Amino acid sequence: NTSFTVGSKSFTAVAINTASKAGEWIQSKLGDFNSLQIKYSPHDLVTEVDKGAEKMIRNLIQTHFPHHSILGEEGVEPGPEASAQALKDVSDAEYLWVVDPLDGTTNFVHGFPFFSVSIALVHKGEVIVGVVYNPIHNELFVAEKGKGAYVRGKRMKVSSETKLIDSLIATGLPADREGALPVNLRGLNALCPKVRNVRVAGSAALHMAYVAAGRLSGFWEIGLNSWDMAAGALLIQESGGAVTDTEGNPYNLKVRNVLATNGAIHGELQQELVLADAVAIKK
Ligand code: IPD
Ligand code: CA
Ligand code: CA
Ligand code: CA
Repeated sequence: NTSFTVGSKSFTAVAINTASKAGEWIQSKLGDFNSLQIKYSPHDLVTEVDKGAEKMIRNLIQTHFPHHSILGEEGVEPGPEASAQALKDVSDAEYLWVVDPLDGTTNFVHGFPFFSVSIALVHKGEVIVGVVYNPIHNELFVAEKGKGAYVRGKRMKVSSETKLIDSLIATGLPADREGALPVNLRGLNALCPKVRNVRVAGSAALHMAYVAAGRLSGFWEIGLNSWDMAAGALLIQESGGAVTDTEGNPYNLKVRNVLATNGAIHGELQQELVLADAVAIKK
């Protein structure tokens, strides 16, 4: 499929190589960084490692594909308006790399070993390559549009649970304590009794990679950004799962409230969120 290469350079190879290099560097900085800054609130952190990783990723991508656009979390001012604007600014790009240099900054800061690098390549609005790398487990999750998704070189397949009560699912506790968090908590409150259990491990990209790998049957979170989800969404789609917003509309880059499952529990999970009035931030 020629859409994945320019000349002899494979998009996927560059994504993998870039995520791996950034991930190894982040891991080398675990417990060894000194600038901790607060972004939006005390729940929203950034370090020089987030920024350094993004710089490294931008440089590597630009070296290979100087005409491609890049949207990275640390290049955008915090807050929903700035992210919406940043996405608008790149909406005309033929090729757009959507990058979360370090997903799980709070975990990284505390030495809780669950974080990732997430890199997606979007072609005319559609994700065609998705890579999520967890340096601690040395696990690389890779998907190419129409070609399947792999972890450690093995084809991934979503879980086979068909009932919520048999399902292990995950969510996040968003840093936006006034807007997204209470909505997410309503969902959590409603779902806890209905599912086997819920995990809140602190990296949306890895939660989604775990849905793709069949380790979780579902994931939802209110108020995410394009860079948290773009790679994970393709991983799940290419593993046979379903990705929509919490209202059931198809996934696209603008989605903030995501519902990602093995497909089989999608309807039931969505219905519970609707019943709990937990699908969106009230305007
Ligand atoms: C965060 C993580 C976390 C999720 C937050 C995200 P960051 O990303 O994915 O799990 O709950 O909503 O913002 O800031 O660590 O890249
Ligand atoms: Ca962040
Ligand atoms: Ca993130
Ligand atoms: Ca991040």
